[in-house]
Amino acid sequence: MTADQEKKQAALEAVKYIKDTMVVGLGTGSTAKHMIEAVGKLVADGMNLTCVPSSEATEKLAKELGIKIVALDAIDKIDVTIDGADEFDEKFQLIKGGGGALLREKILAWNTKFNIIIADSRKEVQKLGAFKLPVEVIPFATKQILAYLETEGLQPVQRMRGGDPYRTDENNNIIDIDIFRTEDLQALESKLLKIPGVVETGLFLDTTSLIIVGKEGGPEVKER
Ligand code: A5P
Repeated sequence: MTADQEKKQAALEAVKYIKDTMVVGLGTGSTAKHMIEAVGKLVADGMNLTCVPSSEATEKLAKELGIKIVALDAIDKIDVTIDGADEFDEKFQLIKGGGGALLREKILAWNTKFNIIIADSRKEVQKLGAFKLPVEVIPFATKQILAYLETEGLQPVQRMRGGDPYRTDENNNIIDIDIFRTEDLQALESKLLKIPGVVETGLFLDTTSLIIVGKEGGPEVKER
């Protein structure tokens, strides 16, 4: 199976957890895109869903598919959020934000009763960190944060797009760092979040309830 076939298989399995009248959080990325298209079919078939998007790209796609979109402050709690990941390990820890939507994705995950991650099998790792960890930072502080992270040995690289600094939906920058040699992820998360100007990191350490992995022979559903 190709990675994309696995992504679609995981997405189709995940939408089975969506029931009528639920508030659903919609993730961002190429895996989430399959899920959003499947949610669009559920809605077209008559299911009454209210959805909260995790990015402007997701909002645009969802609206095109006729999915009812509301802002986060229009609801109390999200019933289920389905999102992708760049890496996950056996402890259900994730790196997210390869697509730059980590801040809103993390806010959605925090405000969700049941978080489902969908992934192709290549995303499963023994140890997080082959994928660089995205850290969202305020432009005003980007230069100083880059210098500090360098002294910490995290090999920071500012994300660029077309020669300009990358800007997130919240108009912030992203710095990608190397955490492969970091053993205590909880301590790293606390340390990063203490830096003035760091808005959020792509480490999702304890929000995930279920991971669905696309695989030859059928999806693997991993429960926490
Ligand atoms: C978006 O910022 C990310 O967190 C994505 O969820 C993650 O990068 C996975 O993306 P793909 O599904 O495209 O691999």
